[in-house]
Amino acid sequence: MADKDDIKEGKDFGIGIPQQNKPFYVKGAGALDWGMQNRLARIFNPASGRTVMLAFDHGYFQGPTTGLERMDLTIVPLIAYADVLMCTRGALRSVIPPSATNAIVLRCSGGQSILTELSRELIAVDIDDAIRINAAAITTQIYIGAEYEHQSIKNLVQLIDTGNRYGIPTMAVTGVGAQMKRDERYFSLATRIAAELGAHYVKSYFIEEGFERVCAGCPVPIVIAGGKKLPELDALTMAHQAIDQGAAGVDMGRNIFQSDDPVAMIQAVGAVVHSNEKPEKAFQLYQQLKARNVPDRTRVARSS
Ligand code: 5RP
Repeated sequence: MADKDDIKEGKDFGIGIPQQNKPFYVKGAGALDWGMQNRLARIFNPASGRTVMLAFDHGYFQGPTTGLERMDLTIVPLIAYADVLMCTRGALRSVIPPSATNAIVLRCSGGQSILTELSRELIAVDIDDAIRINAAAITTQIYIGAEYEHQSIKNLVQLIDTGNRYGIPTMAVTGVGAQMKRDERYFSLATRIAAELGAHYVKSYFIEEGFERVCAGCPVPIVIAGGKKLPELDALTMAHQAIDQGAAGVDMGRNIFQSDDPVAMIQAVGAVVHSNEKPEKAFQLYQQLKARNVPDRTRVARSS
């Protein structure tokens, strides 16, 4: 039986103080349901409104990518510094400790490889499994202008509709076919199509010319992919320019896990994204962290 002893009547109702209904801070997400907003708040840090997503889903079409051969050794040490882990369910279940409290953005497409046509994807994860995994968002790629453009858009629509049923947001990734020009016109088109179809946020690439207009023309947040490995200062400069011009964060892979010091690099990226650190200062932080680094796993392995 419920304990009813010593129950007191409520008397402090804050009469005269209006209940606060703060607008939700994620771009374009003000009218979403509580569960959607809560999941987006796990992705976009409420303090900065931005996100550092660590992308290590590359193996789903290109196998054991450099830096991802042993994800237990290279990715697990980075978990503490990422807001989000973006990966496949296979990587998650096989190497990521379930005690990790990062938001998970689950790669839900597949069906092609580097040996075949990249745009020919299908949805390769059931929504039930995304829920079982406790995904904060689900994701697939759209290949605007590519051979299988229509199928890839269909995949996105399917994912958005199933996610909406359960309050799980969808991130659309703008995949770029080899023959596409990476310019303002292309990314304005691709990001806007994704948002109009209902994607809750979009992953794009940074471009030197017109990125600010790409962000402005997209009614939901844009996060940038890192792309191919650059020298650390260049990657930090790219992240800084993207944030400065309206990106809500990064979804970075190779420029972190292929860095000379991935643990230092992810912290430097975090300083740019969350604290508006200038690239030179963030690079200094990278160098300091690298200098005072604990022995890396190669040295440990050799000495044991
Ligand atoms: C591949 C992806 C990757 O997650 C994305 O490209 C991010 O990785 P990187 O920073 O290495 O480009 O979506 O389809």
